Amino acid sequence: MPLLFERIKDIRNHLGRLRCDEKASIGFVPTMGYLHEGHKALIKNSVLQNDVTVVSIYVNPAQFGPDEDYHRYPRDIDRDTAICEELGVDVLFAPTDREMYPEGFGTYVSVSGITEVLEGEFRPGHFRGVATVVLKLFNIVQPDRAYFGEKDYQQLKVVEKLVKDLNLPVQIVPVETVRDKDGLALSSRNVYLSDKERVSALSIYRAFQHAQRRTSEGERRADVLIREMEELIRSYPLVRKIDYLTITDPDLQPVEEVRDGDRILVALWVGDTRLIDNWRIKL
Ligand code: PAF
Repeated sequence: MPLLFERIKDIRNHLGRLRCDEKASIGFVPTMGYLHEGHKALIKNSVLQNDVTVVSIYVNPAQFGPDEDYHRYPRDIDRDTAICEELGVDVLFAPTDREMYPEGFGTYVSVSGITEVLEGEFRPGHFRGVATVVLKLFNIVQPDRAYFGEKDYQQLKVVEKLVKDLNLPVQIVPVETVRDKDGLALSSRNVYLSDKERVSALSIYRAFQHAQRRTSEGERRADVLIREMEELIRSYPLVRKIDYLTITDPDLQPVEEVRDGDRILVALWVGDTRLIDNWRIKL
Protein backbone atom coordinates (compact mmCIF):
# COMPACT_ATOMS: atom_id res chain seq x y z
CA MET A 1 0.00 0.00 0.00
CA PRO A 2 1.51 3.39 -0.91
CA LEU A 3 1.98 5.85 1.94
CA LEU A 4 -0.53 8.66 1.56
CA PHE A 5 0.42 12.22 2.47
CA GLU A 6 -1.78 15.30 2.46
CA ARG A 7 0.59 17.71 4.19
CA ILE A 8 3.64 19.23 2.50
CA LYS A 9 5.82 19.09 5.60
CA ASP A 10 5.08 15.37 6.11
CA ILE A 11 5.92 14.26 2.57
CA ARG A 12 9.02 16.48 2.65
CA ASN A 13 10.26 14.84 5.84
CA HIS A 14 9.59 11.36 4.52
CA LEU A 15 11.27 11.91 1.14
CA GLY A 16 14.12 13.84 2.75
CA ARG A 17 14.93 10.83 4.89
CA LEU A 18 14.83 8.44 1.89
CA ARG A 19 17.01 10.78 -0.14
CA CYS A 20 19.63 11.31 2.58
CA ASP A 21 19.67 8.05 4.55
CA GLU A 22 19.02 5.58 1.76
CA LYS A 23 20.39 7.66 -1.14
CA ALA A 24 17.16 6.76 -2.96
CA SER A 25 16.49 8.15 -6.43
CA ILE A 26 13.01 9.63 -6.71
CA GLY A 27 10.71 9.38 -9.73
CA PHE A 28 7.64 11.59 -9.82
CA VAL A 29 4.37 11.31 -11.76
CA PRO A 30 2.17 14.40 -11.32
CA THR A 31 -1.50 13.69 -12.11
CA MET A 32 -4.97 15.05 -11.57
CA GLY A 33 -6.16 11.55 -10.67
CA TYR A 34 -8.81 9.33 -12.23
CA LEU A 35 -5.91 7.23 -13.44
CA HIS A 36 -6.04 5.35 -16.75
CA GLU A 37 -3.63 3.32 -18.89
CA GLY A 38 -1.84 6.51 -19.95
CA HIS A 39 -0.99 7.32 -16.32
CA LYS A 40 -0.10 3.67 -15.76
CA ALA A 41 2.54 3.89 -18.51
CA LEU A 42 4.09 6.92 -16.77
CA ILE A 43 4.07 5.13 -13.42
CA LYS A 44 5.54 1.90 -14.85
CA ASN A 45 8.42 3.87 -16.37
CA SER A 46 9.08 5.59 -13.06
CA VAL A 47 8.97 2.36 -11.05
CA LEU A 48 11.49 0.79 -13.45
CA GLN A 49 13.88 3.75 -13.42
CA ASN A 50 13.87 4.91 -9.78
CA ASP A 51 14.19 3.54 -6.25
CA VAL A 52 11.09 5.38 -5.08
CA THR A 53 8.05 6.49 -7.09
CA VAL A 54 5.83 9.35 -5.96
CA VAL A 55 2.45 10.02 -7.60
CA SER A 56 0.57 13.24 -6.89
CA ILE A 57 -3.18 13.44 -7.26
CA TYR A 58 -4.39 17.00 -7.30
CA VAL A 59 -7.04 18.65 -9.48
CA ASN A 60 -5.35 22.03 -9.73
CA PRO A 61 -7.95 24.83 -9.78
CA ALA A 62 -5.37 27.33 -11.09
CA GLN A 63 -5.22 25.68 -14.51
CA PHE A 64 -8.99 25.72 -15.19
CA GLY A 65 -10.81 28.72 -16.67
CA PRO A 66 -14.03 29.97 -15.04
CA ASP A 67 -16.24 28.20 -17.61
CA GLU A 68 -14.25 24.95 -17.67
CA ASP A 69 -14.90 21.57 -16.08
CA TYR A 70 -13.07 21.97 -12.73
CA HIS A 71 -16.14 21.01 -10.68
CA ARG A 72 -17.19 18.04 -12.76
CA TYR A 73 -13.64 16.74 -13.40
CA PRO A 74 -13.79 13.01 -12.45
CA ARG A 75 -12.32 12.09 -9.05
CA ASP A 76 -11.93 8.67 -7.37
CA ILE A 77 -9.11 8.54 -4.86
CA ASP A 78 -9.90 4.96 -3.69
CA ARG A 79 -9.67 3.57 -7.20
CA ASP A 80 -6.50 5.61 -7.84
CA THR A 81 -4.92 4.30 -4.62
CA ALA A 82 -5.69 0.70 -5.63
CA ILE A 83 -4.08 1.25 -9.07
CA CYS A 84 -1.00 2.79 -7.46
CA GLU A 85 -0.69 -0.12 -5.06
CA GLU A 86 -0.94 -2.62 -7.91
CA LEU A 87 1.85 -0.82 -9.81
CA GLY A 88 4.22 -0.56 -6.85
CA VAL A 89 3.96 3.19 -6.15
CA ASP A 90 5.66 4.05 -2.85
CA VAL A 91 4.19 7.43 -2.03
CA LEU A 92 0.96 9.20 -2.88
CA PHE A 93 0.59 12.95 -2.40
CA ALA A 94 -3.00 14.21 -2.37
CA PRO A 95 -2.98 17.72 -0.94
CA THR A 96 -5.99 19.93 -0.29
CA ASP A 97 -6.48 23.31 -1.98
CA ARG A 98 -5.66 25.03 1.34
CA GLU A 99 -2.36 23.19 1.48
CA MET A 100 -1.40 24.14 -2.08
CA TYR A 101 -2.87 27.65 -2.20
CA PRO A 102 -3.12 28.93 1.36
CA GLU A 103 -4.64 32.31 2.07
CA GLY A 104 -2.38 35.07 0.77
CA PHE A 105 -0.92 32.93 -2.02
CA GLY A 106 0.15 35.27 -4.82
CA THR A 107 3.12 33.98 -6.83
CA TYR A 108 2.59 32.56 -10.30
CA VAL A 109 5.02 31.32 -12.94
CA SER A 110 4.64 32.38 -16.56
CA VAL A 111 6.51 30.55 -19.29
CA SER A 112 6.58 32.77 -22.36
CA GLY A 113 7.22 31.98 -26.00
CA ILE A 114 5.18 28.79 -26.41
CA THR A 115 2.20 29.39 -24.12
CA GLU A 116 0.45 32.05 -26.22
CA VAL A 117 -0.52 29.70 -29.07
CA LEU A 118 -2.71 26.58 -29.47
CA GLU A 119 -3.99 25.63 -25.97
CA GLY A 120 -2.78 28.99 -24.66
CA GLU A 121 -4.95 30.86 -27.15
CA PHE A 122 -8.10 28.94 -26.25
CA ARG A 123 -7.42 28.49 -22.53
CA PRO A 124 -5.96 31.80 -21.32
CA GLY A 125 -4.14 31.33 -18.00
CA HIS A 126 -4.07 27.55 -18.34
CA PHE A 127 -0.30 27.20 -18.67
CA ARG A 128 0.33 29.74 -15.92
CA GLY A 129 -1.66 27.43 -13.64
CA VAL A 130 0.17 24.33 -14.91
CA ALA A 131 3.65 25.87 -14.61
CA THR A 132 2.89 27.18 -11.12
CA VAL A 133 1.60 23.89 -9.74
CA VAL A 134 4.33 21.85 -11.46
CA LEU A 135 7.04 24.08 -9.98
CA LYS A 136 5.41 23.84 -6.54
CA LEU A 137 5.19 20.05 -6.82
CA PHE A 138 8.82 19.81 -7.98
CA ASN A 139 9.86 21.90 -4.97
CA ILE A 140 7.86 19.68 -2.62
CA VAL A 141 8.93 16.31 -4.05
CA GLN A 142 12.39 17.26 -5.40
CA PRO A 143 12.40 14.36 -7.84
CA ASP A 144 15.37 13.16 -9.89
CA ARG A 145 13.04 12.37 -12.79
CA ALA A 146 9.49 13.45 -13.64
CA TYR A 147 7.24 11.74 -16.18
CA PHE A 148 4.90 13.55 -18.59
CA GLY A 149 2.72 12.11 -21.34
CA GLU A 150 3.12 13.20 -24.96
CA LYS A 151 -0.68 13.31 -25.13
CA ASP A 152 -0.40 16.84 -23.69
CA TYR A 153 2.42 17.72 -26.04
CA GLN A 154 2.35 21.48 -25.50
CA GLN A 155 2.28 20.97 -21.73
CA LEU A 156 5.35 18.73 -22.04
CA LYS A 157 7.16 21.48 -23.99
CA VAL A 158 6.12 24.11 -21.42
CA VAL A 159 7.45 21.96 -18.56
CA GLU A 160 10.71 21.31 -20.44
CA LYS A 161 11.13 25.07 -20.93
CA LEU A 162 10.31 25.77 -17.28
CA VAL A 163 12.99 23.28 -16.20
CA LYS A 164 15.56 24.69 -18.64
CA ASP A 165 14.87 28.38 -17.98
CA LEU A 166 14.82 28.05 -14.19
CA ASN A 167 17.66 25.47 -14.00
CA LEU A 168 15.56 22.97 -12.09
CA PRO A 169 17.54 19.84 -11.15
CA VAL A 170 15.06 17.33 -12.58
CA GLN A 171 15.10 15.22 -15.72
CA ILE A 172 11.85 15.35 -17.68
CA VAL A 173 10.99 11.97 -19.22
CA PRO A 174 8.40 12.07 -22.03
CA VAL A 175 6.21 8.99 -22.41
CA GLU A 176 4.32 8.10 -25.60
CA THR A 177 0.55 8.52 -25.80
CA VAL A 178 -1.46 5.41 -24.95
CA ARG A 179 -4.46 4.76 -27.21
CA ASP A 180 -7.48 2.51 -26.92
CA LYS A 181 -7.70 -0.30 -29.48
CA ASP A 182 -9.80 1.94 -31.73
CA GLY A 183 -7.19 4.72 -31.62
CA LEU A 184 -8.79 7.14 -29.15
CA ALA A 185 -6.06 8.67 -26.96
CA LEU A 186 -6.67 7.90 -23.30
CA SER A 187 -7.79 10.84 -21.21
CA SER A 188 -9.68 11.18 -17.94
CA ARG A 189 -12.15 13.36 -19.87
CA ASN A 190 -13.17 10.43 -22.14
CA VAL A 191 -15.72 9.46 -19.45
CA TYR A 192 -17.76 12.49 -20.53
CA LEU A 193 -18.36 10.95 -23.99
CA SER A 194 -21.57 9.07 -24.82
CA ASP A 195 -21.24 6.03 -27.13
CA LYS A 196 -22.30 8.12 -30.14
CA GLU A 197 -19.92 10.93 -29.24
CA ARG A 198 -17.09 8.44 -28.90
CA VAL A 199 -17.60 7.43 -32.54
CA SER A 200 -17.18 11.05 -33.59
CA ALA A 201 -14.14 11.39 -31.32
CA LEU A 202 -12.48 8.69 -33.44
CA SER A 203 -12.37 11.21 -36.30
CA ILE A 204 -9.17 12.50 -34.69
CA TYR A 205 -7.27 9.25 -35.03
CA ARG A 206 -8.71 8.67 -38.52
CA ALA A 207 -7.45 12.11 -39.55
CA PHE A 208 -3.97 11.32 -38.18
CA GLN A 209 -3.92 8.02 -40.07
CA HIS A 210 -5.03 9.79 -43.24
CA ALA A 211 -2.28 12.40 -42.95
CA GLN A 212 0.30 9.76 -42.11
CA ARG A 213 -0.70 7.75 -45.21
CA ARG A 214 -0.68 10.83 -47.47
CA THR A 215 2.78 11.91 -46.26
CA SER A 216 4.11 8.38 -46.72
CA GLU A 217 2.80 8.57 -50.30
CA GLY A 218 4.73 11.79 -50.82
CA GLU A 219 2.40 14.68 -49.95
CA ARG A 220 4.45 17.24 -47.98
CA ARG A 221 2.32 20.40 -48.14
CA ALA A 222 1.03 21.12 -44.63
CA ASP A 223 -1.93 23.23 -45.85
CA VAL A 224 -3.14 20.39 -48.11
CA LEU A 225 -2.86 17.84 -45.32
CA ILE A 226 -4.64 20.13 -42.86
CA ARG A 227 -7.48 20.79 -45.33
CA GLU A 228 -7.98 17.07 -45.95
CA MET A 229 -7.92 16.23 -42.23
CA GLU A 230 -10.40 19.00 -41.51
CA GLU A 231 -12.78 17.71 -44.17
CA LEU A 232 -12.57 14.20 -42.75
CA ILE A 233 -13.16 15.37 -39.18
CA ARG A 234 -16.11 17.57 -40.18
CA SER A 235 -17.79 14.56 -41.82
CA TYR A 236 -18.44 13.15 -38.32
CA PRO A 237 -21.83 14.45 -37.15
CA LEU A 238 -21.11 15.19 -33.48
CA VAL A 239 -17.92 17.19 -33.99
CA ARG A 240 -19.20 20.62 -32.98
CA LYS A 241 -16.15 22.86 -33.38
CA ILE A 242 -12.46 22.59 -34.19
CA ASP A 243 -10.44 24.99 -31.98
CA TYR A 244 -7.25 24.31 -33.92
CA LEU A 245 -5.76 21.77 -36.29
CA THR A 246 -2.21 22.46 -37.30
CA ILE A 247 1.15 20.94 -38.17
CA THR A 248 4.27 22.20 -36.39
CA ASP A 249 7.88 21.25 -35.95
CA PRO A 250 8.80 19.51 -32.66
CA ASP A 251 9.16 22.96 -31.01
CA LEU A 252 5.62 23.99 -31.97
CA GLN A 253 6.61 26.31 -34.84
CA PRO A 254 4.16 26.01 -37.78
CA VAL A 255 5.61 24.38 -40.91
CA GLU A 256 4.77 24.67 -44.60
CA GLU A 257 6.57 21.50 -45.73
CA VAL A 258 6.23 18.47 -43.49
CA ARG A 259 9.33 16.68 -42.24
CA ASP A 260 9.96 13.56 -40.17
CA GLY A 261 9.18 14.22 -36.49
CA ASP A 262 6.76 17.11 -37.10
CA ARG A 263 3.56 17.13 -35.05
CA ILE A 264 -0.07 17.34 -35.98
CA LEU A 265 -1.92 19.02 -33.10
CA VAL A 266 -5.65 19.23 -32.69
CA ALA A 267 -8.24 20.44 -30.20
CA LEU A 268 -11.91 19.96 -30.94
CA TRP A 269 -15.29 19.70 -29.32
CA VAL A 270 -17.46 16.60 -29.49
CA GLY A 271 -20.74 17.65 -27.93
CA ASP A 272 -19.75 19.38 -24.69
CA THR A 273 -16.40 17.62 -24.40
CA ARG A 274 -13.17 19.23 -25.50
CA LEU A 275 -10.56 16.74 -26.71
CA ILE A 276 -6.92 17.34 -27.55
CA ASP A 277 -4.52 15.00 -29.27
CA ASN A 278 -1.37 15.02 -31.38
CA TRP A 279 0.55 12.79 -33.74
CA ARG A 280 4.23 12.53 -34.56
CA ILE A 281 4.66 12.23 -38.34
CA LYS A 282 7.01 9.43 -39.38
CA LEU A 283 8.51 9.65 -42.86
O1 PAF B 1 -1.39 16.75 -17.01
C1 PAF B 1 -1.93 16.89 -15.90
O2 PAF B 1 -2.60 16.00 -15.38
C2 PAF B 1 -1.79 18.23 -15.17
O3 PAF B 1 -1.77 19.28 -16.05
C3 PAF B 1 -0.59 18.26 -14.21
C4 PAF B 1 0.72 18.12 -14.96
C5 PAF B 1 -0.71 17.14 -13.19
C6 PAF B 1 -0.56 19.60 -13.46
O4 PAF B 1 -1.73 19.80 -12.73
